[in-house]
Amino acid sequence: MAFKLASVSTLALTAALGLTMAACTSMPGWSGAGTAAPVQAPAQVQWVRDVHSHARPEIARVHHVDLNLKADFDRRMLAGTASLSITAEEGAGEIIVDIRDLDIHGVRSDDGPLDYTIGEESPFIGKPLIIAIPFTEGRIHIDYSTRPDAAALQWLTPEQTAGGEQPYLFSQGQAILTRTWIPTQDSPGIRQSYSARIVVPEDLKAVMSAEMLTPEGEPAGPGERAYRFRLDNPVPPYLIAIGVGDIAFASLGERTGVYTEPSMLEAARAEFPAVESMVEEAEALYGPYLWGRYDLLVLPPSFPFGGMENPRLTFATPTIIAGDQSLVALVAHELAHSWSGNLVTNATWDDFWLNEGFTVYFENRIMEAVYGRDRAMQEQVLGWEDLQGELADLPPEDTRLKLDLAGRDPDEGMTNIAYEKGAFFLRTIERIVGRDRFDAWLKGYFERNAYRPMTTAMFLEDIRTHLIQGDAALEEALMMDAWVYQPGLPSNAMAPVSQAFDPVDAAARSVFVEGGAPPQSLWQGWNTQQRQRFLAWRPEGHQAGQDWLSDAQLKALDEGLGLSAAGNSEVLFAWLQIAMTHRYEPAVAPTEAFLKGMGRRKFVLPLFQTLWGEGEWGRDLARRIYAEARPLYHPVTSNSVDAVVGVPD
Ligand code: BES
Ligand code: ZN
Repeated sequence: MAFKLASVSTLALTAALGLTMAACTSMPGWSGAGTAAPVQAPAQVQWVRDVHSHARPEIARVHHVDLNLKADFDRRMLAGTASLSITAEEGAGEIIVDIRDLDIHGVRSDDGPLDYTIGEESPFIGKPLIIAIPFTEGRIHIDYSTRPDAAALQWLTPEQTAGGEQPYLFSQGQAILTRTWIPTQDSPGIRQSYSARIVVPEDLKAVMSAEMLTPEGEPAGPGERAYRFRLDNPVPPYLIAIGVGDIAFASLGERTGVYTEPSMLEAARAEFPAVESMVEEAEALYGPYLWGRYDLLVLPPSFPFGGMENPRLTFATPTIIAGDQSLVALVAHELAHSWSGNLVTNATWDDFWLNEGFTVYFENRIMEAVYGRDRAMQEQVLGWEDLQGELADLPPEDTRLKLDLAGRDPDEGMTNIAYEKGAFFLRTIERIVGRDRFDAWLKGYFERNAYRPMTTAMFLEDIRTHLIQGDAALEEALMMDAWVYQPGLPSNAMAPVSQAFDPVDAAARSVFVEGGAPPQSLWQGWNTQQRQRFLAWRPEGHQAGQDWLSDAQLKALDEGLGLSAAGNSEVLFAWLQIAMTHRYEPAVAPTEAFLKGMGRRKFVLPLFQTLWGEGEWGRDLARRIYAEARPLYHPVTSNSVDAVVGVPD
């Protein structure tokens, strides 16, 4: 990309321009429940080059997005205007925003039409929309519409919802999908506040990751209602999110609640009584929750992730509603992102571990505070086992915390390395310096860096300045450079231990090694984490696809423990993985029902991979199931499965 000013283009990489983001945000000093605390002004923003965006923020940047969109369910299209408030350097002459699969109908300033060009498409990244700007401060209005197959959006038919009566729409922006529904600078280092007016059919409700200004909506055109939203806290654009459907609300606490379809509301309300105390414990650990309300949106089953930390409104899969609160660590996780990720944000996707590793660490601290040390340690041990599996599967260069994702889809960085190696790195520091010192540093880290992008190098600088403070022995003991820049695990990593797993491991040995009967009565007394531990057992040196059980053993397990009928999605998934690896016929129907009943990629993709590894038996089955299930999935899930099974004709 060539710039109009040679003197500006030399600033392109990591120049610090001394921009204050305070100048970018209007900051009414409100207070009261549900309203976010005033945004603190970060001192300086260092622009770091993001290879997954066309934007050049060092030359011209977006600081507020105002959307005026109509949701057209018949055409599966959002159409209207994105008004971008921008700041440019003197003489910049143009601003570049990211678009992918958007139809641009025109670009205007407040005074009239603006010239624009659309550049070449790059894989994953989309195209640059280059707009000529005759000013350094002002607004540009982009008239546009989305495509029916916009990768961020899923348009559900009524049959794909719980209620079965109304259609549904939801978005998933992370990592680089927001540009498929909003033309803006879609880079995690370019924070933007936003506001929106969304027009929907009158029997539907719109919700967004923002303050809901019109909870009941307001009259719009015939048969339509409009909903308005505002988020004054500047956020990376991947956190702008929308849901539209037959959506009801139940309060959980003073500043917490849950939105979902009416038929799901009671189950959701009953699952999440702990949410308010999670917010309190999180604040007690690492400082005030700065976003006002914390609500959940429990989506229809095709939601492709477990959870997504959209500000003020975590999006969650209904598969975490287990009936016994056993999977609520996911809520602790998404809540923790309100600090790690949403306040202190990975500057680029190469620094993804700064979002997820910190969040898994913080999540587990919330779980410990609310549910006790024993439960927290069980979850740590399960995470450690996942990490060992990931380390064995990935090429060593992908096991560094700091990644180099140039030329790759940022999705490829979404591994247990970022999540679990990242978390165990922080636990290693905690163990060596002591919890009190570690907590004081981490609280300060969130405070010092709130509303700012963070790189791995900046993190190292922060911890050296504020925690290590030149202590050479401590520096050596922590092995920080090895943790972030080297593959695998440094020698100071320590496996967590949970005594609650001792009887589980003994039972697993007796069943799986000695051929004993399934531990029916023990199983009844085990919690979900113990059941997951039991089902995660594999023989020493086990390779993917290898069998280790006989048909008789599978039958005894299935019938003795009621596995194919398990209501807990994690337990059912773990069992179906075992059953399909062994081509265990009685579990084919439950597998098919599971794969057609939800679209969470973490469950769907590994099951299809397992089937695909089982020769023609599994491949025929995978093709048959996928032909029917694919239309139910969000593009995030179907794109991943397409790469394994292929696109059905
Ligand atoms: N932010 C992630 C989800 C994500 C990451 C979406 C990268 C797109 C790209 C979210 O916080 C997350 O980690 N979800 C996990 C659950 C969590 C408990 C580990 C998930 O969805 O499984
Ligand atoms: Zn996360």
